[in-house]
Amino acid sequence: MTGKLVEIDDLKVHFPITKGIIFDKVIGHVKAVDGVSLSIGQGQTYGLVGESGCGKSTLGRALLQLTKPTAGSVKLGGVDLTTLPPEKLRAQRKRMQMIFQDPMSSLDPRQNIESILSEGLLAHGIGGNRDGRRALISRTLDAVGLPQWALSRYPHEFSGGQRQRIGIARALVLSPELIVADEPVSALDVSIQAQVINLLDELQNELGLTYLVIAHDLAVVRHISDTVGVMYLGALVEEASSNDLYRRPLHPYTKALMSAVPVPDPLVEERRERILLKGDLPSPANPPSGCRFRTRCPWAKERCAQERPELREVDGHKVACHYAEELSGLLAAV
Ligand SMILES: Nc1ncnc2c1ncn2[C@@H]1O[C@H](COP(=O)(O)OP(=O)(O)OP(=O)(O)O)[C@@H](O)[C@H]1O
Ligand SMILES: [Mg+2]
Repeated sequence: MTGKLVEIDDLKVHFPITKGIIFDKVIGHVKAVDGVSLSIGQGQTYGLVGESGCGKSTLGRALLQLTKPTAGSVKLGGVDLTTLPPEKLRAQRKRMQMIFQDPMSSLDPRQNIESILSEGLLAHGIGGNRDGRRALISRTLDAVGLPQWALSRYPHEFSGGQRQRIGIARALVLSPELIVADEPVSALDVSIQAQVINLLDELQNELGLTYLVIAHDLAVVRHISDTVGVMYLGALVEEASSNDLYRRPLHPYTKALMSAVPVPDPLVEERRERILLKGDLPSPANPPSGCRFRTRCPWAKERCAQERPELREVDGHKVACHYAEELSGLLAAV
C-alpha cells in the first residue's frame, strides 16, 4: 500500500472545437486539462485553486470519470479507472462522490429529501429495503446536522447552508472514500461558509474521508487542505503543503493570487504588496508558447517564451517556473 488513495498521472482532457453545419469539422481543441499529475494520501485533503476557466472542474470530473480523459491515468486505491470496462467502473463509482457548488440547482426541486438521498442507494443496491435505506439516511442526516423531519421536506424549504448539508448528505450516504467538492461554499453567505467547511473537516476526521476541494479563492481551502495545488490554464504551476504555500509562495502566479487576498489586520493590509496581473487569461485553445503564464508575468524573460518549465522541486515546493529560486526572495508572503 502506498498510502495514496488517488494517483493522477499526466492527465489530459481536450475538448474538440467543431465547425460546420453538423459540427463535423474539428478545428482545434480546448486543452482544459493538459498534463496534470498529482496524488492524494488516504484521509488527506488536496485543495485545488485557480482562476475561472483554468480547468479545475474538468480535472475533478475527470478524476471521477464523469468526463472521459483524453490521455493519462487516474488510479483509485491502485485501480486504474480509465481502463476499466463500464460494469467494473460502476462498482467503483460508489467509492467516490461529488459535492457541487450550487446546492439549489443540483437538487431536484420535485423530490423530497428522502427520495433525493435514496437515489444513490437504489442505484447501487445499498441498504436493502426501504427501512434499511431509511436507517442509513437517518444516520447521515444526523452526521451532517440536519433534523429528521427534513426527510419529507423539499429543497426549497431549506436555507442555502442547509441545502449544502443535503448535498453533503447525498454524497455521504453511500459511504464513499473520496469526495470531490467543487466550490462547495462559493454560493453561500460568508457567515455560513465556515460552518460548511468545518462540517467537511469534522466528517473527514470521523470517517477518514479523502477530499479534493476545488475553489477559486485561496482563503477557502487554506485551513482544510493538507496540500494545495495552484492551476493555471490546464496545468499545475505550484504545489506545496498548505503551510509552506501560504507562508512562501514561489510561483509568480501564486504570489499574485496571494497578493489579491485582503488581510484582516489594517496595518498589514496597508503595507500589502499587490501584484496586478496584466491582460486576460489566454484561451486554453491556444495557450502561449513556453511558460503559459509568461504573457501575464511581471518577471517574464526570453527563456520563458521558448521553454515550458516543468514542475520541479524547489525548497520543498513543486513549482513550474524557470526563475523560482531568483524570485523566491522577492515579495515574501503577506
Ligand atoms: N464540456 C465541455 N466542452 C467544451 N469545453 C469545455 C467543456 N467543459 C469545460 N470546457 C472548457 O474547459 C475550460 C476549463 O473549464 P472548467 O469548467 O474546468 O474551469 P474551472 O476552473 O472549473 O472554472 P470555474 O472556476 O469558472 O468553475 C474552459 O475553457 C471551458 O470553457
Ligand atoms: Mg469550475
